[in-house]
Amino acid sequence: MDWRRKGQRVALVPTMGALHDGHLSLVRQAKQHADHVIVSIFVNPTQFGPGEDFEQYPRSLHSDAELCRQEKVSLVFAPDFSEMYGAKKHDRHQYITFRIKKMTEYLCGPFRPGHFEGVLQVVNKLFNIVKPDVAVFGQKDIQQWYLIRKMIEELDHPIEMLMGPTRREPDGLARSSRNVYLSDPERKAAPMLFQTLQRVRNGLEKKGTREAIPVDGAIISEEVKRLSENGLKVEYFSIVSTPDLQPAAAIEPGQTYVIAVAVRFGKSRLIDNVIISHKELPES
Ligand code: PAF
Repeated sequence: MDWRRKGQRVALVPTMGALHDGHLSLVRQAKQHADHVIVSIFVNPTQFGPGEDFEQYPRSLHSDAELCRQEKVSLVFAPDFSEMYGAKKHDRHQYITFRIKKMTEYLCGPFRPGHFEGVLQVVNKLFNIVKPDVAVFGQKDIQQWYLIRKMIEELDHPIEMLMGPTRREPDGLARSSRNVYLSDPERKAAPMLFQTLQRVRNGLEKKGTREAIPVDGAIISEEVKRLSENGLKVEYFSIVSTPDLQPAAAIEPGQTYVIAVAVRFGKSRLIDNVIISHKELPES
């Protein structure tokens, strides 16, 4: 491949396959920033904890490749385990990992020990193998997004990182390869998650002021209670500052925050988030 010699830009869209419209929107975004788009498809075992869904994770390489062909992706990189890790054992403890302690103290960090280390490990490898100029990751996994951006800075990868907005079903549920785990009644109730996030964001935005807006813990507790009453077991419902991902007591002018939620619902674990920044607050 002499793309680089020709001065052509390469974008990477890392995925675990089971491609849906959310991934394809990342591919389309990548195309705006590069001459060639490479999609990697690898269900990375080192980012799954014991008892998580590594075995059940949906795999559909054939149809994924077809979707990539339709999107005019230049190359699909679908390595097997030994190509990535060069060993026979799926033992996450035998490989180099990166840990960004502070940024993993909240949100999914405490609920998925070792997960982000596995993510950073495989994404670093993908960056070294593919050497992209641009990489696109979705907003849906927002903690992952900020961690990867930090890793790019720390490890001096010359890569521009872009965020693809979360794609949603018509009723607001964030698209995810894991939505297939939802039963029919769960699928009907799941859009509550995004509605809740929007309600909290609207509540903060409506206060339109240039002053810092305190985060009202009682409102969050009320929303958590409402989700629980509908069978969604809340792991966390947090407002965090960016890029450090620390709990925020107030929305300060000029800063960007994330309102993020994770719930257990039946057999599934759902996450979602919205971004709130001063820019969105009406001027008083
Ligand atoms: O977001 C994902 O699908 C995965 O975490 C990623 C970035 C492809 C690494 O395995």
